[in-house]
Amino acid sequence: MIALEDHLLQNYRRAPVTFVAGSGCELYDSEGNAYLDMIGGIASCALGHAHPAIAQAVAHQAQTLVHCSNLFGHEPASTLAAELARRSGFDRVFFCNSGTEANEAAIKLARKYAFRKRDTQRTTILSCTGGFHGRTMGALAATANPAYHEGFAPLPGGFAATPFNDIEALQDAIDERVAAFIVEPVQGENGVICADPAFLRAARELCNKHGALLIFDEVQTGMGRTGPLFAFQHYGIKPDAVTLAKALANGLPIGAMLVSETCAGGLQPGDHGSTFGGSPVPCAAALAHLDVRDDLDLEQHVAQVSERLFAGLRTLASGFPNVYGEPRGIGLLAGLPVKAPHDAAQIVDHVRSVFRVLVNKAGNNTIRLAPPLIVTADEIDRTLQALTNAIETL
Ligand SMILES: Cc1ncc(COP(=O)(O)O)c(C=O)c1O
Repeated sequence: MIALEDHLLQNYRRAPVTFVAGSGCELYDSEGNAYLDMIGGIASCALGHAHPAIAQAVAHQAQTLVHCSNLFGHEPASTLAAELARRSGFDRVFFCNSGTEANEAAIKLARKYAFRKRDTQRTTILSCTGGFHGRTMGALAATANPAYHEGFAPLPGGFAATPFNDIEALQDAIDERVAAFIVEPVQGENGVICADPAFLRAARELCNKHGALLIFDEVQTGMGRTGPLFAFQHYGIKPDAVTLAKALANGLPIGAMLVSETCAGGLQPGDHGSTFGGSPVPCAAALAHLDVRDDLDLEQHVAQVSERLFAGLRTLASGFPNVYGEPRGIGLLAGLPVKAPHDAAQIVDHVRSVFRVLVNKAGNNTIRLAPPLIVTADEIDRTLQALTNAIETL
């Protein structure tokens, strides 16, 4: 028999578990064990696994129209664009297949928007140190973290970085050469570090003052992760563009860039595209996701369970002050820092293999939780118990 890992490229450090099915917040492995999934496909399965409404929408769309290219229109993409515009207050939507691609689109839009205005010295894409925007060359160049860059030089030019949450540095960094400033409202991959509201407000003001676009990378924070549908609504700051992916279609591959009319004309026919971007099946899944979200009043639910999660994490931190630090995050995106010499990766492995609870390590020695947004209070309590027991048994 061919071992599952024999022919897959070894570019991931996969845990030694093979999942065959899922339901709600649980995943089932090939030996029949159930796991409580508190990472939800890394913030992707907002409604949990095998949600019947998503399954039905996918099946129906697959039996109706799977693909017709972007040479023609189709109803799922037009309806989803209209829904996203209505719910976000943005005017136009570009669909692609991933978060990385959504950021590539935003980078290209910013450059071409300046170019079309004959503002040709305005080419710099400014981002924040520690941020994560994806792995293709443009998104990677905007990912100001040397750990991701090593061995891939030369990266595209025209990218610069400024420290996260440092307003003074941002004042120095934004000038008439900056086409766009791209920032995550919460740096997820960096260990769940929230932007200070004052930093994002300053970013808005400085971008206005110097004519740069403000792009929020909401690939991880979007689709209700922080409570409201978008984190920019949580912060009360409207960027010029927002990028989405992950949870948009509850785990099917799709990415999106939402833009205001002012800069939407930056990209004209022929400037950018994607064969599969916004194809009917993931769009149908995303529409079903939005419907279910409304029915369940997920914003209210996230606010309630988030309080319980963070209260529990704070209790853990005070109960084990040598192991856990103060939790960080918003809504259902949480980071629990682990203090050296203790190792977040070891705790993550232990809670998976012994307690069958899935979380992951992010950033600098932090345990990240990003469960399905339908997670219950009881499932949160089970997770907190596992993180407690892990320290007692390790
Ligand atoms: C904030 C952010 N931007 C971009 C990406 C890249 O998204 P994708 O893996 O869908 O290309 C990620 C993925 O973790 C992310 O968290």
